[in-house]
Amino acid sequence: MANLFSPFQLKDVALKNRIAIPPMCQYMAIDGAANDWHQVHYTSLARGGSGLIIVEATAVAPEGRITPHCLGIWNDTQAEQLRAIAAAIKASGAVPGIQIAHAGRKASANIPWEGDDHIPEGDTRGWQPIAPSALAFGGLLPRTPTAMTIADIQRVQQDFVAAARRALDAGFEWLELHFAHGYLAQSFTSVHSNLRTDEYGGNLENRGRFTRETLAAVRNVWPEHLPLTARFGVLEYDGQDEQTLSESIQLVNDWKQLGLDMLSVSIGFSTPAAQIPWGPAFLAPIAQRVRNETQLPVSSAWGFGAPDLADQAIRHEQLDLAMIGRAHLENPNWTYQAAKELHQENPAWVLPPPYAHWLARYHDPKQR
Ligand SMILES: Cc1cc2nc3c(=O)[nH]c(=O)nc-3n(C[C@H](O)[C@H](O)[C@H](O)COP(=O)(O)O)c2cc1C
Repeated sequence: MANLFSPFQLKDVALKNRIAIPPMCQYMAIDGAANDWHQVHYTSLARGGSGLIIVEATAVAPEGRITPHCLGIWNDTQAEQLRAIAAAIKASGAVPGIQIAHAGRKASANIPWEGDDHIPEGDTRGWQPIAPSALAFGGLLPRTPTAMTIADIQRVQQDFVAAARRALDAGFEWLELHFAHGYLAQSFTSVHSNLRTDEYGGNLENRGRFTRETLAAVRNVWPEHLPLTARFGVLEYDGQDEQTLSESIQLVNDWKQLGLDMLSVSIGFSTPAAQIPWGPAFLAPIAQRVRNETQLPVSSAWGFGAPDLADQAIRHEQLDLAMIGRAHLENPNWTYQAAKELHQENPAWVLPPPYAHWLARYHDPKQR
């Protein structure tokens, strides 16, 4: 039976344990480029011992950033900065992953600690968002996006392809497509945001077209031997969950046929009216259902920060990987904490030798 510290293999990539750090925006980039903040942040996370680190949502185009301070990968300068981060993650013993993204109608927002709301129209820090339909999200994000033309759709799909190529060239070994959280791809799939009457809207077949085409195009350039994954909000908590979940599972099965290797099971965030039942590990049974009905490996986040909960989710085959986010902001050495709490043999050795050598002795009462 696998547990949190069992290795995990996907395609040619071997993770040393089942602990992954999910993408978490830092809102510290200038012109989409990473800097010292990101370099130190990701290096210190990687030294903490988790098997996989997925670099935060990285925009495939300037208008696809959530905020003016989000990372981008639409030019070579940005890719060069990311190359140094991928190398540092790898040198620290974790697998370097990256999430490529387009924020759609949620783009052009203030950073969270400056409001998390849309930058007002006319403010030169912002820009006009694009989306499947000219329909605003609402709440803090009231700006009405421009409905995308077919040419816009094809351009953004090519942006995803170019981003995947750059990510590969920069040394990333695990690619996650951001199809979740009410951003562009999720908003094509959701009835809350897609009112189109052409081949990209209406029935599930049409609402799924943007994601199917994007995935297939990226798979063409992302090597077969490396994992191609997606993060997707499989339900919205909007009172229509059985219908949304069964449609989502159909979509994921289509993606599997097109070469998807794993799914990160998440929430749609397509409507501010959602009633989300936050709580420890609350998505675990949903993830398990997706896993069973698609036969794909799955990961999930949201409230697995207690080591025992994460371990149980792996042992009960609800998850193949546990994504531990905020708990890593609190303690970059969360994996070490988990190894101690779960009574792993030689827990300090989840850390690199310059730490592990001393900590192993430090915890031996005879050697204090
Ligand atoms: C600061 C911060 C930034 C985030 N940025 C992203 C992101 O870039 N992409 C994404 O898919 N999710 C993002 N999320 C969601 C996390 O990946 C994760 O799902 C969430 O933190 C819940 O997991 P946790 O309970 O372990 O923290 C972010 C969350 C936080 C706290």
